[in-house]
Amino acid sequence: MPVKRDDDTATIEVIDRVSTGNGELVLRCSGGHYEIISNGVFLMDTRDGASERLLVDAAADAASGPGGRTGLRLLIGGLGVGFSLGAAVAHPAVGAVTVVEREEPVIAWQRGPLAPFSGHALRSPDVTVRHDDLLDWAFGPGDEAAYDALCLDVDNGPDWTVTEGNRALYGPSGLRALRGKLAPGGVLAVWSAAASPAFERALGEVFAEVRVEEVPVRVPRGVPDVVFLAC
Ligand SMILES: C[S@@+](CC[C@H](N)C(=O)[O-])C[C@H]1O[C@@H](n2cnc3c(N)ncnc32)[C@H](O)[C@@H]1O
Repeated sequence: MPVKRDDDTATIEVIDRVSTGNGELVLRCSGGHYEIISNGVFLMDTRDGASERLLVDAAADAASGPGGRTGLRLLIGGLGVGFSLGAAVAHPAVGAVTVVEREEPVIAWQRGPLAPFSGHALRSPDVTVRHDDLLDWAFGPGDEAAYDALCLDVDNGPDWTVTEGNRALYGPSGLRALRGKLAPGGVLAVWSAAASPAFERALGEVFAEVRVEEVPVRVPRGVPDVVFLAC
């Protein structure tokens, strides 16, 4: 049922509203676009997705290297609406994709109305979804040197996390834990809604090479999205 008008042309329809251990999650639709709202804060929508796809494409290209290595094992932290997952399944160098997602409703939505935004990627035999907290995975045992690329997009960026605990991922211990999950030559890619010189420096203290790519956004006066790449 439409709950309110956000402008003259579109209504906002709440598709699902769920209480989770981390607060309230809402899936809503406005003007044909889906939006995920976490505790009242915008988290992701289906309007663009260019930088979320770049996160994966840049990481897979870098991990593939000049020799064009294929069969890469890639992990995505944060399912969202599925743009990054769709890019991973479509990338010719990627052989297997694991997605770690903390919120069960987000996984359920990807099996429902959000499926087209990943190209129905959950149907692929090459995709595994883990309902897990990325922090538990990163700091927990197992999966050492298991991945050629880790693509993290669980927050609005290292300086604007959706939950306080996620901040640990972007500090020295988090970055060292993530490095431990990478195979030799592996690449860590991190999405952010804004530049972060402090995070770039932190990456430089743990990884030998750091590169930053900017993606213009369509929002008027919006600063570019940023993808950090480290190996
Ligand atoms: C910005 S969205 C991801 C967008 C995604 N790249 C896409 O293409 O749609 C962030 C996602 O990370 C999930 N998330 C947040 N914190 C997490 C954590 N600690 N562990 C796993 N998933 C988490 C959220 O539930 C949400 O689905």
